[in-house]
Amino acid sequence: MRFPQKSVTAACLIVGSFVIGVALHQVRSVKASPQEAPAYAANGDMLPPTHYREWIYLSSGIDMSYTPKALGMSGMSMFDNVFVDPEAWRGFLASGTWPDKTVMVLEGRHARSKGSINQGGHFQADGVMDFEIHVKDESRFPGKWAFFSFDSPDKNGTLIPQKADCYSCHNEHGAVDTSFVQFYPTLLPIAKAKGTLSAAYVRETPPGAGK
Ligand code: HEC
Repeated sequence: MRFPQKSVTAACLIVGSFVIGVALHQVRSVKASPQEAPAYAANGDMLPPTHYREWIYLSSGIDMSYTPKALGMSGMSMFDNVFVDPEAWRGFLASGTWPDKTVMVLEGRHARSKGSINQGGHFQADGVMDFEIHVKDESRFPGKWAFFSFDSPDKNGTLIPQKADCYSCHNEHGAVDTSFVQFYPTLLPIAKAKGTLSAAYVRETPPGAGK
C-alpha cells in the first residue's frame, strides 16, 4: 500500500518529535542537579559538594599574596581555582550580588613547570593541595556567610571561627558581599553595571584600576 505523501510527512513529524522528546527528557534527567545547596553533618561540619567541578568557573589566581613581605617567601608556587554553584551564578547575573545558599569553592593546586612538552610557564598539578569554601547561609550564620576548611575535596569541612582573618579580609576588601569579585572577570562588569560594589572596595580602588 502506498501512503499519500502528506500523511507520511505527518507520521515522520510525529515520530520525530517523540524521539526528540524522549532524548530531551533523558538529557534533562542526566543533568538533574546534583547537590548544589549547602548541606551539613549533625556536628555542624559541611558536607563536601561532590560536583563542584561541574560548577561555574570564575577564575584562577597564581601565587597571589596580600602582604608585601609574603612575596616570594614560601618558595611554593600555587594556582587557586574558584568555582560557584550554577544557581548562585544565575542569581548574580540577575542581581549583581549573591543569593542565599551561595557556595563558593577555592581549590589550590601546585604550579608545575617541568612536564611533558612544557618549556616555559606553569601548569596545574593533579593533586588538590588546598580546599576551602565560602558559603552564604543567612539563617545559619550570624554574619550570613561562613568559611569552611577541608582536608580534601571529599571529606567533611570544619567551620572556621568568626574571629579568623578570613572574615576580616573578605569583609574589608571583597568587592561584592564579602567575595573577591574584583578578581572574577566575568562578574566584575555585572557588579559595576548593577551598582553592587562595596563602599570599601570603591574607596580603595583608583578609577580605571584593573584595565
Ligand atoms: C588578606 C586577605 C585574605 C584573607 C586573610 C583570606 N582571603 Fe580568601 N580570598 C582573598 C582573595 C584576594 C581571593 C580571590 C582569589 C582569586 O582571585 O583567585 C579570595 C578568595 C577566596 C575564596 C573564593 C570565594 C570568594 O569569597 O571570593 C574562598 C573560598 C576563600 N578565599 C577562603 C578563604 C579562607 C577559608 C580564608 C581563611 C583561612 C581566607 N580566604 C582568607 C583574600 C583573602
